[in-house]
Amino acid sequence: MDWKTKIDTKRLPRHIAVIMDGNGRWAKEQGKPRVFGHRSGVKSVREITEAAAELGVEYLTLYAFSTENWSRPKLEVSALMRLLVETVYQETNTLMENNIRLRAIGEIDKLPKATCQALLEGIEKTKANTGTTLVLALNYSGKWDITQATRHLAAEVAAGRLRSEDITDSHVAAALSTQGMPDPELLIRTSGEARISNFLLWQLAYAELYFSPVFWPDFRKANFYQAIVDFQHRERRFGKISEQIV
Ligand code: FPP
Repeated sequence: MDWKTKIDTKRLPRHIAVIMDGNGRWAKEQGKPRVFGHRSGVKSVREITEAAAELGVEYLTLYAFSTENWSRPKLEVSALMRLLVETVYQETNTLMENNIRLRAIGEIDKLPKATCQALLEGIEKTKANTGTTLVLALNYSGKWDITQATRHLAAEVAAGRLRSEDITDSHVAAALSTQGMPDPELLIRTSGEARISNFLLWQLAYAELYFSPVFWPDFRKANFYQAIVDFQHRERRFGKISEQIV
């Protein structure tokens, strides 16, 4: 099936978020170490980013490392961090060629120095690009994001710049790490798991959830297109009834 031709490019989700899952199990199936799965996963990162840019999706957010991932074996964590550095350096030119702007969300300053630096350099180099924004969620968790936003708003109130009774959901949205970005309309999770796993908890309020059985290293452009086609067949009601949707 040629899923790409079935996409209505006038009704694309503005923001797609992805939980890239199944690298470890994919590697195990081939009798290889988990890190081999992560390395192979980078190819899917490249393909999906390219697909999003070609289609004109405004924001693509990838869950690359969660706060909870620190509890993995030390060797796996350090291999993932190295892989991130390598990938960001290797791919910066491709990002430039495709007019893609890099952005990161999460506690970036608590990442190993080299990882943090690679990211900041990539963000700086690509900051004037005007196409798709590729957002890497790194050392990220949804609860952390809401907590840091709460802390920020509490400080504003304490400083007398904001009255607590004036706080609206726009203030919260503006204090989150995704500030300025539209909420994801589509969340894709690979590998058959059907959980949100502390990802963009506030931002996913109205997202359509799409769970694919495919492990991340096997998730390629066609799978991505299929997810978008599925999204476009859903009726998004936002609490209204069918007849109210035009
Ligand atoms: C989940 O698979 C994957 C991760 C925790 C890391 C994702 C990282 C990459 C694809 C590589 C680098 C990324 C970028 C953005 C350059 P898993 O290990 O949880 O798989 P399992 O559930 O089968 O164990």
